[in-house]
Amino acid sequence: MVGVGIVGLGTVGFDTYRILRDYRSLIETRAGVDLRVVAVADADPDRLKLIGEDPDVTTTTDAPRLIEDDRVEIVVELMGGTDAAFDYTKQAIALKKWVVTANKALLAERGEDLFGFADEQGSEIGFEASVCGGIPVIRAIRDGLVGNRIHYMLGILNGTSNYILSRMADEGIPFDKALAEAQRLGFAEKDPTLDIEGIDAAHKLCILVRLALGFPMQMSEIATAGISKIEPIDIEFAKEFGYRIKLLGVAKEEENLIEARVEPAMIPIKHPMSNVNEAYNAVYLVGDNVGSNLYYGKGAGGSPTGSAVVSDIVDMALRKTVGCSRRSPIARKDGRSAKSAEKSMSPFYMRFKAQDTPGVLSRISGVLANYNISIYAVVQKGRKVDGYVPIVMLTYEASEGSLRKAKAEIDRLPFIGEETMHIRIEDREL
Ligand code: HSE
Repeated sequence: MVGVGIVGLGTVGFDTYRILRDYRSLIETRAGVDLRVVAVADADPDRLKLIGEDPDVTTTTDAPRLIEDDRVEIVVELMGGTDAAFDYTKQAIALKKWVVTANKALLAERGEDLFGFADEQGSEIGFEASVCGGIPVIRAIRDGLVGNRIHYMLGILNGTSNYILSRMADEGIPFDKALAEAQRLGFAEKDPTLDIEGIDAAHKLCILVRLALGFPMQMSEIATAGISKIEPIDIEFAKEFGYRIKLLGVAKEEENLIEARVEPAMIPIKHPMSNVNEAYNAVYLVGDNVGSNLYYGKGAGGSPTGSAVVSDIVDMALRKTVGCSRRSPIARKDGRSAKSAEKSMSPFYMRFKAQDTPGVLSRISGVLANYNISIYAVVQKGRKVDGYVPIVMLTYEASEGSLRKAKAEIDRLPFIGEETMHIRIEDREL
């Protein structure tokens, strides 16, 4: 029997407890390990009442006491945050216990320290649940694709943003309305900042880059932008050009430069990632031996995330019985460096709000030409509103630095009515 202690009895904590309790004999039949939750800790005594009458389980508001409990071999950290969660994880590893966590912020921001300490101690950290909830993408990369180098990866890593963009696309409603609907239906938090500004997705991308590209990417090196500036008109234009807009995490390795970014981007309708809708998550990656792979599923919620937590516990319990810990994800620079956002190249969509007068197009294209940005499509359509019309241009590959400089210059022209919108196009065929 392997004893499990759960710290944090929120939605995921409770579902983890429930799965381990109700699927105990199924797990034993399938995996040959007998797992038992022996202790649960939460700072809120009311939450502990959810456990009810379970004679196997000790409940406590004192997490360090649970971690010290000799019966607890695997500590499951599901409390969130990066301070106390860091201390408890360190405490458990110092006691040579193994830790499972769903805490993406903790691993993205302080993972280097924790993974290093776990290796030193012969302990390990399971983190399947930290990226894309129920999708077993960590295991797929770590085990299934171990004989591959991965140089290209796309992720729809935030269900809240994906839900909002799907509603905007389906119903033609503005961002604020779609966000309010997502909040009413429980898909978005009351304070949605982490989700809609791309930070949650960047945490997950940071973990994926460490694992799949083996590069110690820092959060500060991931160019991050959210979806709050996207307007229905951009979604409409994207559709006309054969694209959908998604909050996309992108990681690439080219010529010893690693690029990682999270931002709204246009992706071809024929790409499988463009059909990942509602609150679903997906990761698309290319391995040099396996080719393209796509992983799809629910990225949040108690049951899907609990399912991932349980898979880590089972994996650990199996290896504990043979005394073999898993190495932490090895992340080394090996002569590589992070590519600056400025130098990152791609085609772009630009939408100008411009007066409908002679010479406007030539002035705009003149500025773009000065920055060596080549245009491959232009559309002007729609009625004049207050004397302005939308003009949309798609460019060939350009550096983000040049694009931003050109945009700033264009936005100073007298016939431009508001800041120009630009969106990256993730289309390898352009
Ligand atoms: N809030 C996240 C999302 C789930 O909307 O996908 C947890 O990371």
